[in-house]
Amino acid sequence: MTEAIANIRAEALLRLQAAQDEATLDEINVSVLGRSGALTEILRAMGKLDKEQRAALGQQANAVKKELEAELAARRAALTEKTQELRFAQEALDVTEPGKVTQPLGRLHPMTQTYREIRDALIGMGFTTFEGPEVEYDDYNFTKLNLPQDHPARDMQDTFYVNERVVLRTHTSPCEARALLTVKPPFRLVMPGRVFRVDEVDASHSPVFMQMEGFIVDRDLTLADLKGILLTFIHAVFGEDVKMRFRPSYFPFTEPSAEVDVSCTICGGKGCRACKGTGWLEILGCGVSNPHILENCGIDPKEWKAIAFGVGVDRITSLKYGITDIRLEYENDARFLSQF
Ligand code: DAH
Repeated sequence: MTEAIANIRAEALLRLQAAQDEATLDEINVSVLGRSGALTEILRAMGKLDKEQRAALGQQANAVKKELEAELAARRAALTEKTQELRFAQEALDVTEPGKVTQPLGRLHPMTQTYREIRDALIGMGFTTFEGPEVEYDDYNFTKLNLPQDHPARDMQDTFYVNERVVLRTHTSPCEARALLTVKPPFRLVMPGRVFRVDEVDASHSPVFMQMEGFIVDRDLTLADLKGILLTFIHAVFGEDVKMRFRPSYFPFTEPSAEVDVSCTICGGKGCRACKGTGWLEILGCGVSNPHILENCGIDPKEWKAIAFGVGVDRITSLKYGITDIRLEYENDARFLSQF
């Protein structure tokens, strides 16, 4: 009998040590300590023994029962802790982990990129930005810029009229008049914005397009200053190898006036279809401001000089990236824009 109890104890302890889950522990509990478990059977059978034997065995069996119950509880606690640790590890959340990108990222429009390159090159030379309205007085868009009512050069720009006195600005040049009227010279300004002209849409025309004006007012300015500033920003946008040339031209707001060409960005100057075989591409208009403009805006042309240039930002963008249809720059097709 004593041996039987010792065996039950030994076996139960082994099984308890080996058990890896709650179900196994339950099973051991039932098969040893349960109502018809091995130890319970022995305790029950003790009734048939004589008094002394019963007392000794009873003590032994109860001690084993207590021991096994305690061991069972300890194993249960250990297992619960282990499963919990495992679950915590599996469910752990790293809140610093970057999320999965499901939305495509946006980017800057190629024209915005080009504009910023030019602007930043100019800011490096002491320029600041200045903006005027898109709906503008005829007076600022034309008259103050040396284009009076009946001036033939008004025909160069097909104008959207809002009423007799108000237009959609046809260029960023009216910002020059606004700057002269409001900013104390000397100053260097870069003036970007949308401009409007009555044009049929085709590969090289859009009724809305983007220009950028440069305007410098100081006591002592020459064409050489203009050339230096233009060459700096042209190199910043097109690279150091590009060449620049001035071609005499006419603008009512400047005297002398020039158009500026760069060596063809496609063929490098040898001559191709893009430059119509000339090796040069026109990129902007510029000049020394006509003294009338300063005068019209209350600035004494004997004391102050001005130089100015106007750039088509879309055109520079086309030349820089080899875009052959201006419509692509205004239609905002994501498939086109995602290339830049
Ligand atoms: N405003 C002119 C245009 O839109 C461009 C231009 C030419 C601007 C000469 C200037 C300039 O400031 O000096 O065609």
